[in-house]
Amino acid sequence: MCGIIGYTGRREAAPLLLDGLQRLEYRGYDSAGIAIVDDGAIHVVKGAGKLSVLRDGLEGVYPPGRCGIGHTRWATHGKPTTDNAHPHLDCTGAVVVIHNGIVENYLELRAELTARGHALRSETDTEVLPHLIESYMDEGADLLTALRHTLGRIRGAHAIVAMSKREPGRIVAARAGNAGGVVIGYGAGEMFVASDLPALLPETQRVAFLADGEIACVTADAVEYVTAAGAPLQRGPQVVPFDPVTAAKGAHKHFMLKEIMEQPECIMDTFRGRAIFEPPAIALESVGMSDETLRRVSRVMLIGMGTSMHAAMLGRSYFERIAGIPAEVDNSSEFRYRDALIGPDTLVVSVAQSGETVDTLEAMADAKRRGAPQITICNTPGAQSTRVADGCVLTRCGPEVAVASTKTLTASISALYLLACHAGRARGVLDDARLGELIASLARAPGLMGRVLALGPKVQEIAHALAGYEDFLFLARGAQYPMALEGALKLKEVSYIHAEGYPAGEMKHGPIALIDRTMPVVAIALDDGTRDKMLSNIEQVRAREGLVVGIITEGDAELRGKCDEALELPPYAPLLYPLLSAIPMQLLAYHIATTRGCDVDQPRNLAKTVTVE
Ligand code: G6P
Repeated sequence: MCGIIGYTGRREAAPLLLDGLQRLEYRGYDSAGIAIVDDGAIHVVKGAGKLSVLRDGLEGVYPPGRCGIGHTRWATHGKPTTDNAHPHLDCTGAVVVIHNGIVENYLELRAELTARGHALRSETDTEVLPHLIESYMDEGADLLTALRHTLGRIRGAHAIVAMSKREPGRIVAARAGNAGGVVIGYGAGEMFVASDLPALLPETQRVAFLADGEIACVTADAVEYVTAAGAPLQRGPQVVPFDPVTAAKGAHKHFMLKEIMEQPECIMDTFRGRAIFEPPAIALESVGMSDETLRRVSRVMLIGMGTSMHAAMLGRSYFERIAGIPAEVDNSSEFRYRDALIGPDTLVVSVAQSGETVDTLEAMADAKRRGAPQITICNTPGAQSTRVADGCVLTRCGPEVAVASTKTLTASISALYLLACHAGRARGVLDDARLGELIASLARAPGLMGRVLALGPKVQEIAHALAGYEDFLFLARGAQYPMALEGALKLKEVSYIHAEGYPAGEMKHGPIALIDRTMPVVAIALDDGTRDKMLSNIEQVRAREGLVVGIITEGDAELRGKCDEALELPPYAPLLYPLLSAIPMQLLAYHIATTRGCDVDQPRNLAKTVTVE
């Protein structure tokens, strides 16, 4: 997860920036750099590897200056080399940028800039940003306006921080979508910018957070906030407590909400460095088995519990549709009692965010006794599941504090997608063109998820209206069925409302008997090949006076007209569409639970890691 720090004030910037970056080391990174504006010039120092290498390389001689920015990078586009490390400069060294996110349309922007004579030196998507800013400044725009114009040209979700030697002492910082936060720290005669609170806390506890589409223009004595359209915003600092747990919650009221909001970043962190864009390739570092073993297996058995099992259900689709291997999924605890016919020809893929869930560990031990090769998907480095399996794909979410899983669901889904791509390559069923499409599709997820997260206020409104009901039904088909199960599970877990998830085709075989005006039905009816059948199910619910909340594709006026409430998601690839539909499921449960006054982070009777059978 990339880290961002910025300082403008009366002290020397470089040591402060390096200290701030050090406090962000826990996020993980593979290269780092700082830029200082001083005396009409920008000085950049950067390098691959650890921050200590950068610091030691300076041998105590820091670039002088009182305004600067720093970055720890975790590679997405281009290897972790010095050239690819941030900060990135424009052609003449007048503008410098650090960035967290993916410029989804960077290839076309790169081509456009190169054709206009700009010289881009790195393999990164980020480098188009200083050049775009440069071109707008050359046309007469100031730094802030140039950044606003640049935001209008790029797709995806971003945190961007920039400086120009033409405006010394000024840092501009923007947040677009949810690819990571931007927090402004207020000091006395000095100001800070950072991606996360821990970078700032020893310096100041007076902070302000940027929301999606907001920009801050910071000097040593003042900060001005504007929208991406340039409209001024009123914003003052709030005081945050100096306690790491509360601080980690940032601007959010609960960890559950924080973790829901972090998902675009978690997805990006999970695929960065593993999904290679050009030429398309998958680089899973610790998969723990040869391509030969992956070629030999004749089926995949996926297991997990709770939310992780729902991710595993999507894993089944990925192994079948992407890697062409027959796949099954089972609840780990049931799998144990099945006396399943598995052996060396079955690849067992377990999913467990904690890596310590007893039923999953027991099922894995059984699979091991039977000689099955195993890969685990886990969010906890070093956990037991990672020690039992032959290999693992770690999701890179950071600790998930709320008991009900959210960010580990979507990160596990992404990890399973990467693993299926890897297996498809090993088995020779994925050519470059198809793999390129699959990777490009995953790379769009963070940006699109950011757009879905922006539905928060609308979901909150719906939640207020629905919080008094005691029974809910969640319906979907195909790849969305696991998300119907997840929607029902989240609601049960955090709001204590009875909820059931069903494949919509099953509705007529029982659940329909329950439907009347006291039972809201959440129907996922997206444009993924299941929409028309879902429309029929919605009609059947309406005929029984059921209240329908539709999760539909943007612009589907017909479906919108059939639903009492509709949440519209952007169009997306059917295989990955669950990454988007998971979000309204989570937000609905969260807002209904908070409306009912429930303790969302620590719901009654539940444990984060279930170590009893
Ligand atoms: C508990 C947690 C859930 C989680 C499940 C499986 O029930 O409350 O959020 O989905 O365990 O956990 P695992 O660590 O195996 O993914």
